[in-house]
Amino acid sequence: MAPGSTQTLLGRKIVLGVSGSIAAYKAVGLLRLLMREGADVSVVMTEAATRFVGPLTFEVLSRRPVATDLFAARQEMLHLTLPEWADAVVIAPATANQIAKYALGLADDLLSALVLNTSCPLILAPAMDGNMWDHPAVTAHREALRQRGVTVLEPEEGPLASGRVGKGRLPDDTVILSAIEQRLFPRLDWRGQRLLVSAGPTQEAIDPVRFISNRSSGKMGYALAQAARERGAEVTLVSGPTALTVPPGIHYVPVCTAEEMDKALTAHFAWSTVLIMAAAVADFRPAQASSTKLKKRKEALNKLDLEPTPDILERLSLRRTSQTLVGFAAETEAVLPQAKDKLVRKGLDLIVGNNVLAEGSGFGSDTNEAVLVDREGGVTELGLLPKRVLADRILDVISTLPCAIKRSAAAKKPPAAGNKN
Ligand code: CTP
Repeated sequence: MAPGSTQTLLGRKIVLGVSGSIAAYKAVGLLRLLMREGADVSVVMTEAATRFVGPLTFEVLSRRPVATDLFAARQEMLHLTLPEWADAVVIAPATANQIAKYALGLADDLLSALVLNTSCPLILAPAMDGNMWDHPAVTAHREALRQRGVTVLEPEEGPLASGRVGKGRLPDDTVILSAIEQRLFPRLDWRGQRLLVSAGPTQEAIDPVRFISNRSSGKMGYALAQAARERGAEVTLVSGPTALTVPPGIHYVPVCTAEEMDKALTAHFAWSTVLIMAAAVADFRPAQASSTKLKKRKEALNKLDLEPTPDILERLSLRRTSQTLVGFAAETEAVLPQAKDKLVRKGLDLIVGNNVLAEGSGFGSDTNEAVLVDREGGVTELGLLPKRVLADRILDVISTLPCAIKRSAAAKKPPAAGNKN
């Protein structure tokens, strides 16, 4: 077994479709990862993809011929036989053009014809320029595919080949692997749980055009919401303003201020079995927001009277009946002692601490390095992970908390004899 591999895909057959994006070279790394996990991988490339990477690279690594042409492959009918052979079809990178073809049912090359014949799980890992990803046509196509049960991963943010910075980078190999695993072996271990999760920043008005806020992107909270949903939980996501797409199947409650977040969470708290407070709630707000725009010549904008916002987690902790409570501690120093202090002060079962100044961690980034501390003193250090993968690890740890196990056993216990309710 290759070092670091858990062979989760041993004996699984995967078609890896590579389409014509500059990110095609990254599919080589993905192929190696899939092979290391024990998968048998057959690569199909579009003609455009072959301009970025030679098929020979994939042939040598996959130890299989690489198919590129619908007509050259006509005798073997690869567009029919490959999807029948496969346990999963993964397109990485998936260009805007390929995504459009799948949404519309076009089949003018081997890869799109193959997709049209696919009934096993289909996973798309898009890569394109940010403007293309945001285009209404691309948005409509990916939503249509998601409605049909296709997994369309969110691209990562960062520097793009165009020189711009935006959302469009191919998702990390480990995110793609975890999506394949999730589709092949759906874990429904959170079925029966009702997760209430907060995400993003809050905005506290100074006047109608200005506010106090923070750098939270909401990515961690959204990743947790998506992971729990995919694992069978009912999920309510209370989110401050973010630029993120709400994952499918989630009850979404948009809020703006700490007070609105407090109200929304309080309203849903009794319903929930688990609360994860991933939002970065503003700690202070202007004592008096102006109803009209403050004028720099007239008003003293150099002085703001602030008042504290409610500590939502502390308040909810006092109202808890049987909920498991999870908080976050985003710190810039002494993460572990500060996280432990907040765990006790806020009466939590688990806290997720991280250093927002560490490389690859913190607000806005797609990755995070977290340390988890539970109320029994257990400490779990998780290395630098994509937030979507970290979300699953956090859910794994929550499931093993003594309080969560006790509560889920109590929930599953049949009612006592004679009790008809
Ligand atoms: N939190 C909250 N309400 C607030 C502030 C924070 O519910 N008004 C929650 C956060 O969502 C997080 C946890 O409390 O889950 C810790 O938040 P953090 O900002 O790290 O801690 P604070 O208690 O605000 O302390 P400090 O800012 O001094 O570090």
